[in-house]
Amino acid sequence: MSAPLLEVRGLSNHFGSVCTARDLSLSFAEGELTSVIGPNGAGKSTFINLLTGHLPVQAGQVLFRGRDVTGLAVHQRVRLGMGRSFQIANVFPGLTVLENVLIPALALAGRAGRPLSRISGEREAREQAQGVLSRVGLGAEAERPASALSHGDRRLLEVAVALASRPALLFLDEPTAGMNPVERTRLLEGIRALSAGGQTTFVLVEHDMDVVFALSARVVVLHRGELLCDGPPERVRADARVREVYLGHEVEEAAP
Ligand SMILES: Nc1ncnc2c1ncn2[C@@H]1O[C@H](COP(=O)(O)OP(=O)(O)OP(=O)(O)O)[C@@H](O)[C@H]1O
Ligand SMILES: [Mg+2]
Repeated sequence: MSAPLLEVRGLSNHFGSVCTARDLSLSFAEGELTSVIGPNGAGKSTFINLLTGHLPVQAGQVLFRGRDVTGLAVHQRVRLGMGRSFQIANVFPGLTVLENVLIPALALAGRAGRPLSRISGEREAREQAQGVLSRVGLGAEAERPASALSHGDRRLLEVAVALASRPALLFLDEPTAGMNPVERTRLLEGIRALSAGGQTTFVLVEHDMDVVFALSARVVVLHRGELLCDGPPERVRADARVREVYLGHEVEEAAP
């Protein structure tokens, strides 16, 4: 059998006396859309930061396609195909929506560094960037300055920027936070279609249980840095410990 896309072995992290990852071992298979859930402070963002190199690993190992990446810098992991959504500061407000997505698209093609005035000549990258924008529902906004976007649309743009470098594995930490229902639906439909396309494997941190259960093939539940439950949505929804620490009535409301 081929190696999992990402394998985590015995990952631990402490912030002073607070344990935010306790001997976590799990792997992510190619193509399997996974949601990571858990109460506030459970260690979800820490987990992603450890996997993507934004936090140094104190104990344990991270393997990407069988290769030990534990000590690699963020940009080295990105080059290998591990992406995460950029923070708001990484959207250039003075550029158009399309230009923001063109930057990683051109970098991928090894053509970065040219003046922006020549970007319009790069037809292939432009088409690719336009395609990514359409997939997240921003196709009609391409020529607007990024600064003119609503908060939710900016978040969509961040996801589009992350997607434009065609990561094999993409972590999205609460991508729908602050979005209105229309923006949320647009993004989730985009993620669903992209996930089905098979090019990118998604790992989402998400608080909205409707979203989690509708989208995910697998749900990982963290609680105080520990792996509380890991399995298909139906099993997680029925798990007594998960209900106790986190889901409670939300699960019943989200159940069909
Ligand atoms: N850099 C840091 N230094 C010290 N403590 C931190 C740091 N980052 C996070 N923490 C603490 O670690 C715990 C886990 O935080 P983390 O952000 O991983 O949780 P989370 O599951 O993403 O929560 P949320 O749902 O609120 O986003 C929290 O108690 C938080 O205050
Ligand atoms: Mg978080």
